[in-house]
Amino acid sequence: MKKKQSLSKEVAGESDKKFLEKLKVYMPSIKDYFITSKKRVKTGVVGLDERMEGGYLPRSVVLISGKTGTGKTIFTSQFLYKGVIDYNENGIFVSTEETAADLLNDMNVSFGWDLLKLIKKNRFRVLQLEPDMMAKLPQLLRRLTKEIDAKRLVIDSASMFGLYLGDEYKTRKEFHKILREAKRLGLTTLVTAEVLEESKGLSRFGVVEFIADGIISLMYIGLARKYKRALLIRKMRRTEHSDKIHPIKITDDGMEIVKLTGEEK
Ligand SMILES: Nc1ncnc2c1ncn2[C@@H]1O[C@H](COP(=O)(O)OP(=O)(O)O)[C@@H](O)[C@H]1O
Ligand SMILES: [Mg+2]
Repeated sequence: MKKKQSLSKEVAGESDKKFLEKLKVYMPSIKDYFITSKKRVKTGVVGLDERMEGGYLPRSVVLISGKTGTGKTIFTSQFLYKGVIDYNENGIFVSTEETAADLLNDMNVSFGWDLLKLIKKNRFRVLQLEPDMMAKLPQLLRRLTKEIDAKRLVIDSASMFGLYLGDEYKTRKEFHKILREAKRLGLTTLVTAEVLEESKGLSRFGVVEFIADGIISLMYIGLARKYKRALLIRKMRRTEHSDKIHPIKITDDGMEIVKLTGEEK
């Protein structure tokens, strides 16, 4: 126990930064060790933060997986909208599925989230990604992040990348590039992935789950002849998180976890 403490103290020291600098060929990300903050990035979903030590790790990549209609677009839009409104953190939404106009309309009509207003105030950006823009995505992210000083990023969804790029190797390579750039820019990223109706897997091409620091799955479960929405935190690095399947509901205020009577965590 004592040994462990003295070791971490040594590594965090100023002289070690210089020493580790020499090793950066083997460990290009080592500088990130020193900027890992204890502060969590709030999810924006009522009831979720307290079930995962206060939120996401800063600069992490979290996969939001689920079948169609389980609420992935709502979950991720809420992360960005509440990010600006409640936590003063600006965000970028990369949409491969819906047009920007559809997304703005849906969120405004369903929940009264005026994303256009946030765009005008330079707090929010939507990037409607067309197939020929994929290679340029890291560059576009750099530009947009600078433009609005963004802290949060959503990519909705990863499935489209697989369809456009064809094989899994190419998709994985491109995605690595994009997500590394997002980390480098200091963004905390949510990536959605569509799970096919008949599938038992997490995401369609199984690409993001290898890179993700966390996985949250949204689902429908059959209960008393009715289908109910639910959420499960399947993985969250460095985090003590709930392992329960939580019922969720979507109201005019967005998505929230339904607290069950007698439940502690
Ligand atoms: N204001 C609302 N109140 C309750 N449910 C809503 C509301 N708006 C949308 N929904 C539900 O959310 C679903 C769409 O969620 P969405 O995030 O688009 O799913 P996904 O992106 O996973 O396909 C709709 O099918 C509807 O059931
Ligand atoms: Mg969607």
